[in-house]
Amino acid sequence: MKTTTIAILGNGNVGGALARGLARSYSHVQSVGHDQAAQLKAATQAEIIILAVPFPALDAVVKNLGSALDGKVVVDATNALTPDYQLAVGFTTSGAEELQQKLPRARVVKAFNTVFAQHLDTGKVGATTLTALVSSDDAAAKQIVITLAQDLGFEAVDAGPLKNARLLEPVGFLNIQLGYMLGLGTQIGFKLVRG
Ligand SMILES: NC(=O)c1ccc[n+]([C@@H]2O[C@H](COP(=O)([O-])OP(=O)(O)OC[C@H]3O[C@@H](n4cnc5c(N)ncnc54)[C@H](OP(=O)(O)O)[C@@H]3O)[C@@H](O)[C@H]2O)c1
Repeated sequence: MKTTTIAILGNGNVGGALARGLARSYSHVQSVGHDQAAQLKAATQAEIIILAVPFPALDAVVKNLGSALDGKVVVDATNALTPDYQLAVGFTTSGAEELQQKLPRARVVKAFNTVFAQHLDTGKVGATTLTALVSSDDAAAKQIVITLAQDLGFEAVDAGPLKNARLLEPVGFLNIQLGYMLGLGTQIGFKLVRG
């Protein structure tokens, strides 16, 4: 078992699935719900913090955590959507870049937003391995999250700088459109095929 300490803020569909999947490889995984004191305690103790809260909640979460995220790997798994399910930002910025601006001393990594929660604990739909797309401006932090995604069971792909979250966030929205609005359901996922 790996001993890296991981705090997952949000223990709903995404937080619960990631906690379940990561607990197979990491001995110190904790997921916490809405409670501010519990989130601050978990984040303070952790080396990797995964944000698995609704996008509109990020400001409150960041404000509550303050400097506790300084120097830490912060994984943004949110889909940058408004409460009425439209893309909240795009073209010239992304939710992840805005998060990095709010947390200048954190090592923000965008990942897991393009995968339905149902597959986050295994990285698979049936027997098919899904692709986890990982972007960050911090190369070492990105490699840590690539390894974490591989430990979950994904094929992990370096999707470049954090700026590419502008691309990953619409892919997450496309996944939601296909699954929920266009009737394909949640037993779907994206896989990068190499020739
Ligand atoms: N569902 C998916 O398939 C999927 C896939 C990829 C990415 N995402 C993204 O992942 C994030 C979480 O999605 P989810 O489906 O796991 O949502 P969820 O099941 O509703 O869980 C959200 C979690 O965030 C907590 N939370 C809500 N408001 C908060 C606040 N103001 N401060 C602190 N914590 C707060 C909730 O706590 P309480 O329950 O105590 O309120 C809950 O633990 C979203 O940004 C979503 O877009 C979802």
